[in-house]
Amino acid sequence: MSQHRSVWLATSDAPAYPALAGDVTADVAVVGAGITGLTAALLIQRGGRRVVVVEAGRVGGGTTGHTTGKVTSQHSLIYRDLIERHGEARARLYAEANEQAIDVIARLAEETEADCRFERAPAYVYAETADQRGAVEAEHAAALRLGLPATLTTEFDLPVDIAVALRFDDQAHIHASRYTAALARAIVAGGGEVFEHSRAMGIEERRDEAVVHTEGGDIRAPQVVVATLLPFVDRGGFFARAQPGRSYGVAARLRGDAPAGMHISAGSPTRSTRPWVDGDRPGVIVVGESHPTGEGDQTPARWGELERWTREHLDVESFEYRWSSQDYVTVDGIPYVGRSPRMARTLVATGFRKWGLTNGTAAARMLADLVDGRDNPWLEAFDATRIGGAAAVKKLVEANVHVATRFVGDRIARLRPASVAHLEPGDGGVVDLDGHTVGAYRDPGGELHAVSVTCTHLGCTLRWNGAETSWDCPCHGSRFSYEGAVLDGPAVRPLERIDVDRGT
Ligand SMILES: Cc1cc2nc3c(=O)[nH]c(=O)nc-3n(C[C@H](O)[C@H](O)[C@H](O)COP(=O)(O)OP(=O)(O)OC[C@H]3O[C@@H](n4cnc5c(N)ncnc54)[C@H](O)[C@@H]3O)c2cc1C
Ligand code: FES
Repeated sequence: MSQHRSVWLATSDAPAYPALAGDVTADVAVVGAGITGLTAALLIQRGGRRVVVVEAGRVGGGTTGHTTGKVTSQHSLIYRDLIERHGEARARLYAEANEQAIDVIARLAEETEADCRFERAPAYVYAETADQRGAVEAEHAAALRLGLPATLTTEFDLPVDIAVALRFDDQAHIHASRYTAALARAIVAGGGEVFEHSRAMGIEERRDEAVVHTEGGDIRAPQVVVATLLPFVDRGGFFARAQPGRSYGVAARLRGDAPAGMHISAGSPTRSTRPWVDGDRPGVIVVGESHPTGEGDQTPARWGELERWTREHLDVESFEYRWSSQDYVTVDGIPYVGRSPRMARTLVATGFRKWGLTNGTAAARMLADLVDGRDNPWLEAFDATRIGGAAAVKKLVEANVHVATRFVGDRIARLRPASVAHLEPGDGGVVDLDGHTVGAYRDPGGELHAVSVTCTHLGCTLRWNGAETSWDCPCHGSRFSYEGAVLDGPAVRPLERIDVDRGT
């Protein structure tokens, strides 16, 4: 049985950083230490500003630590759609930003001496049936129009029958956690500060500074970068314009060599693969089984499907790791980057549609340029203020709060909770406990853990995630442990815990 842990976090070399204890000042406060926050912090610091980074958990422990690790501008089938929805000029900015991000990661990996196995490899998106062929060919035409390194081919190194594949040359893959660990080390070596286990609870903008309130103290800085996957501050209204989706991953050791390329299926179900080396033994990573957060079956069977597919196509010796994680996609398909609406000193980056190693790196460059007062051509496409002006965003936020509240009422009215007595060890769900509807999990030792199922973000009703033994919010993606601790934002406050008698 494989370890239930991200392959990257299990093999990371990240040092530990202290929690913030007391107040500090900086030129720029960065909230969130994933690839976006750390890259932004390092680039801003290189511009001569003192940075302080605060992270709720561990450096690189968010979605970056659960990625597939492909560093590519090939984002499945996207460019035809971007051209149709946004026009060729804007689609080209997206393509350029992501293609250049590959080189930025290569350069930063070298400069920070990251032990992250940055390796160039081709990326393929493949059609398995004649039906899917047209979409892949259209993507090829779109990619060529945008100047991307795209070739249509039937030469393919994954043992899957294909109709055709679209290859992007000179792409790459990395060990994501070792890369973020190196970025954090470089920030500290350059005079910046990094604090772990320091959740930001709010941002207060004053006339001459912003104050980031954390659990352990305040950071005062003229500017703040919020790189928390989805901004935890509600004022920009991004939670109403970005949908959370989860995906599952497995890492397998192979008997023979792994295919050298990176692959993603054009059809459904999505299967995304890349080579992986376990010590010096060949392996492969397979990711897929996506669904909206809080919806669909969130059970260990998802990993079973990935393992079955991997065994069908490759000579598997053993499965070593399994994990799952989430990212957000914006309503118009392009991330929101730059100044946050309704805030004067706060910059944001979100909505990377599961392609945030390059999108997040490109975002970091845009944010560093904004801090330095330099023009950045990509902002025309990514600009976060396109979500609307102050009045429009205020309306959007209010409408979403209303929808969320109504959603709760509706769901609670429809719930018919089973009795807590029906929960076997390892089971969780919404149950009736002494006449109250609560979320409960009976751990393998038989102990019962109960929490309120009302999300502390905006009050939606949480769903049980049996794969991760967590409570997940279908509204904006917040997640909580079975004991109520925040696992993923935008929520910042834990769930109310309900006292239960041992052995109930
Ligand atoms: C299964 C999966 C596979 C993927 N594969 C790829 C891939 O192959 N290639 C690719 O380009 N992209 C991929 N992605 C997407 C990519 O990994 C993400 O878009 C990217 O890592 C996001 O980086 P980030 O720094 O913005 O967010 P994160 O890495 O999530 O970092 C945000 C950090 O903010 C912290 N935080 C949150 N709230 C607070 C708070 N209130 N105070 C302080 N800290 C806070 C979190 O703890 C977290 O560490 C994948 C995504 C998934 C889910
Ligand atoms: S209500 Fe917004 S994440 Fe739960």
